[in-house]
Amino acid sequence: MVALKSLLVHALLAATSTASSLLKRQYPGPGRVTGDTNVHDPSVVKTPAGLYILAHTGDNVSLKTSTDRTAWKNAGAVFPNGAPWTTTYTGGSKNLWAPDISYRNGRYYLYYSASTFGSSRSAIFLATSSTGLSGSWTNQGLVIESTTSSNWNAIDPNLIVDAQGRWWLSFGSFWSGLKMIPLDPNTGKRSGSDLISIASRPSNGGAIEAPYITRRGNWYYLWASFDKCCNGAASTYRVMVGRSTSVTGPFVDKAGNQMMSGGGTQVMASHGSIHGPGHQAVFTDADADVLVYHYYANDGQAFLGINLIRYDNDWPVVY
Ligand SMILES: *[C@@H]1O[C@H](CO)[C@@H](O)[C@H](O)[C@H]1NC(C)=O
Repeated sequence: MVALKSLLVHALLAATSTASSLLKRQYPGPGRVTGDTNVHDPSVVKTPAGLYILAHTGDNVSLKTSTDRTAWKNAGAVFPNGAPWTTTYTGGSKNLWAPDISYRNGRYYLYYSASTFGSSRSAIFLATSSTGLSGSWTNQGLVIESTTSSNWNAIDPNLIVDAQGRWWLSFGSFWSGLKMIPLDPNTGKRSGSDLISIASRPSNGGAIEAPYITRRGNWYYLWASFDKCCNGAASTYRVMVGRSTSVTGPFVDKAGNQMMSGGGTQVMASHGSIHGPGHQAVFTDADADVLVYHYYANDGQAFLGINLIRYDNDWPVVY
């Protein structure tokens, strides 16, 4: 009896320690990066020559480059001479937010936002370039704007080209949630007047932003950040995902909840000294799909996080 009891205790202890080590391994630490890695709201494109170009929130939109995805260096601003067309939305600030960089049909596209914190008076602009590097970008003007009376917010843009070659821009932050509009692939600008709702958090103060849509096989994945950014180590941002067979949704999480009703499967959240990981972007590299995001260290500084993505029954898992 005593022996059996001790066996049971051992089995229980073993099970508990396996469970707790599984829990600890649930969110991997960010992969090693070196150099200039203070970033907020990153997105990355890999050029045909193999250079990684990272765009992030900063004055005149900031750029960094890497030849190996590990060592990063400052690479100037998208608009070294400023972007005066944005200042009516920024209250004069040079700080431009959440650039989305990609390469399509031999050109680099950069959608980025101009706003002030907590205001829905915001705009998304487009710039294009033949190299993606600092000073090479041409302003293509306004894509969409929101006003103080809109119940949505024109920030945090992301371009997705669907399986039929149609272009869409998802965007949004708080209020009634994440939206999507069709774009004209010839210009990268808005086409028609459709405004499609793709996700919202009606019971959580609308705390959802930074949509990023990827396509893999028959699935479209809608990645989003829940809760609060921008509070240093007290930030509660976390990375969520849902999927749909249609680019415009409905996106549904692993448990079957609609993202329009607050659903989302958590793929990364604060752990240890990694606080508020979020504002994710995804790009496909030779070895894997790659998740990039920012997180805050204990001292409140924002850093670049990079992890790889594998798929488990067509659901993304970060490692
Ligand atoms: C941003 O643009 C302004 C001109 O409006 C310029 O004075 C400033 O040096 C630029 N800053 C960066 C980081 O490019």
